Amino acid sequence: MDKIVVQGGNVLSGEVPVSGAKNAALPIIAASLLSRGHHILRNVPELADVATMLEVLRVMGAKAERLTGNKKSTCEVLIDGPVHPEAPYELVKTMRASVLVLGPLVARYGRARVSMPGGCAIGARPIDQHLKGLKAMGAEITLTEGYVEARCKRLRGATVNFDVITVTGTENVMMAAVLARGRTVLENAAREPEVEELANVLNKMGARIEGAGSDVITIDGVDELRPMDHAIIPDRVEAGTFLVAAAITGGNVLVKNAVPEHLEAVLLKLREAGCTLTTEAGGIRCKGPRVLKPVDIKTAEHPGFPTDMQAQLMVLMSVANGTSVISENIFENRFMHVPELHRMGADISISGPTAVVKGVKKLSGAQVMATDLRASASLVLAGLRAEGRTEVSRVYHLDRGYEHIEKKLRGVGANVRRVKG
Ligand code: EPU
Repeated sequence: MDKIVVQGGNVLSGEVPVSGAKNAALPIIAASLLSRGHHILRNVPELADVATMLEVLRVMGAKAERLTGNKKSTCEVLIDGPVHPEAPYELVKTMRASVLVLGPLVARYGRARVSMPGGCAIGARPIDQHLKGLKAMGAEITLTEGYVEARCKRLRGATVNFDVITVTGTENVMMAAVLARGRTVLENAAREPEVEELANVLNKMGARIEGAGSDVITIDGVDELRPMDHAIIPDRVEAGTFLVAAAITGGNVLVKNAVPEHLEAVLLKLREAGCTLTTEAGGIRCKGPRVLKPVDIKTAEHPGFPTDMQAQLMVLMSVANGTSVISENIFENRFMHVPELHRMGADISISGPTAVVKGVKKLSGAQVMATDLRASASLVLAGLRAEGRTEVSRVYHLDRGYEHIEKKLRGVGANVRRVKG
């Protein structure tokens, strides 16, 4: 298995580009099931999760592929023949976001059979709210042999009040509602930029959605949609990860394509930590201070501080001058990077959803590994700041969400390489 090897201590400087957003690309690829024809998706990051979602479409009978050469950030999906509306266990178990095909399939084909995602490393992650929304729209839901089956000739509009705010749940039910008969109102909807982006794409396809980006989304169902041609927004979590890389190395980096409006809570905390942040044409520049100040964060749904940036901020806190506190309010098991950071010399204690991080003078390189994507990214960051050599194994987690992270970091002066294994 591949490893990422980091020789710490370099101060980062220069420009680093941000790729298209993974968590926008996944629902948008699923949305192509909503219309026949030839869909073109641009700025699609080359990631393992994206490859899995294209595979999910292919096993259903669609053509779904990434172009090659200088067009390799473009994917094409062709839906013209019959679609077999089933997402098998083998794929869903590798990526729970495969469940995003449920809404589009039942809306357009009247039936969907999707392997029920199990728990995952960061938490139990049920899908009851996805199912609640589909049921409210008239779908008959059964669970057999580990598969969720949803059936309905044509969904009908309904008011769905989500009990918890869920990103993919909002996306799934929104995709189902665009072809339903009548009006659907989603209350307590997720407000993440990726939800807004999906609504924009669906509207380009002919849907009638209003309010995405707020907590009430209104969808007037239409009979038919047309194929999409769309370029995906930049990845705010990748951007945030590079901003932290600049911050903790005392660097000066322009994170190209980063969108400030998508990152407000993160920028606020970086400023509090003493970073100088400027919005420039084409991105956000972060200059790290000589000494980082401690900051406290409470993860929350957008526009709160994103749970997907918690592990990265923890690295910053680990080397700040003082004590910081993290409350992780979204996932119940998202501190798996902590024992690995301990191995690098960090001083962190955990009590339930709270982590108390006492800044240390230095981190030292070590062999580490993590069991989820953002935790792995935090270990690469820690390696950039640590003295000596850090080896991060289980790189397949990173490859699910960061496009060529080692190349991009090298481009701003980091000593990072991938060792094939
Ligand atoms: N939840 C329920 N019932 C549901 C759905 C969610 O109880 O039916 C709970 C979850 O267990 C969790 C909370 O609600 O405690 C929020 O979960 P949410 O459904 O919003 O998460 P998700 O849609 O499964 C997306 C991202 C995650 C990101 C979370 C939170 C995608 C493909 N994934 O997951 O991204 O952490 O929202 O912002 O959009 C990542 O990229 O590393 C990643 C994990």
